[in-house]
Amino acid sequence: MVLHTGKSKTVHQGADENTVILRFTDNITAGNGEKHETMQGKGELCAAISNLIFAHLKLNGVETHLVEILDETSVLAKKAEIVGVEVIVRNAAAGGFVKKYGVAHGLIFEPPVVEFCVKSDKLGDPMANENQIAALGIATPDELSEMTKKSLLINTYMCRLFKKAGIRLADFKLEFGRYENKLILCDEISPDSCRLWDMKTGEKFDKDIFRQGLGDVLDGYREVFRRLSDVK
Ligand code: TYD
Repeated sequence: MVLHTGKSKTVHQGADENTVILRFTDNITAGNGEKHETMQGKGELCAAISNLIFAHLKLNGVETHLVEILDETSVLAKKAEIVGVEVIVRNAAAGGFVKKYGVAHGLIFEPPVVEFCVKSDKLGDPMANENQIAALGIATPDELSEMTKKSLLINTYMCRLFKKAGIRLADFKLEFGRYENKLILCDEISPDSCRLWDMKTGEKFDKDIFRQGLGDVLDGYREVFRRLSDVK
């Protein structure tokens, strides 16, 4: 039974009440779905990359929704109540931040910047601060501070991993869910939801290739997978 059809994944009921099956599809979208295409092999690549990153986070003690990898495009996950915010962590300025604040692309943030967006395709995922999110009843101040802490820790682990692969993690988006009175990392982490730049040349390996029409986006994703697979 399909519980939800997302832009790049479908969510199905798992064998028992407390699990779901996430299927990575070959769809790629940008600009809130305005630009969309189907690319054979894309789901498999995103699943493989996300699974590698989730495994690395688990090794570092991060609790995630992942229960088991089922096949090339599917994972079994804990059925969490998804918190209606997207957490964005930025180590360098790009995309929406550059556009909004007029700073130089690549400007380094130390410490990293954490932002929240309300999850709503209809509203275009508007950015909101902690007070606004609490007032909207989407998450409590305690939950927001816990998500901030967890996201910064995840950022540290991911930066370390990508550095070993010669990749700079410029920014990324996370989603959390409530599960057994805890907040756990949910959704996916892939080049769909990260900005990944070659450390030496600055070449982009992420969805910006598609957003900006820079070439074969899956070549970028393949490079990310190849390099992450080689990390010892
Ligand atoms: P951001 O620069 O805020 O938005 P845009 O993609 O419009 O330039 O995005 C920061 C990072 O978060 C980037 O790697 C893309 C990712 N992201 C998502 O995956 N989904 C989203 O809905 C948003 C807003 C961002």
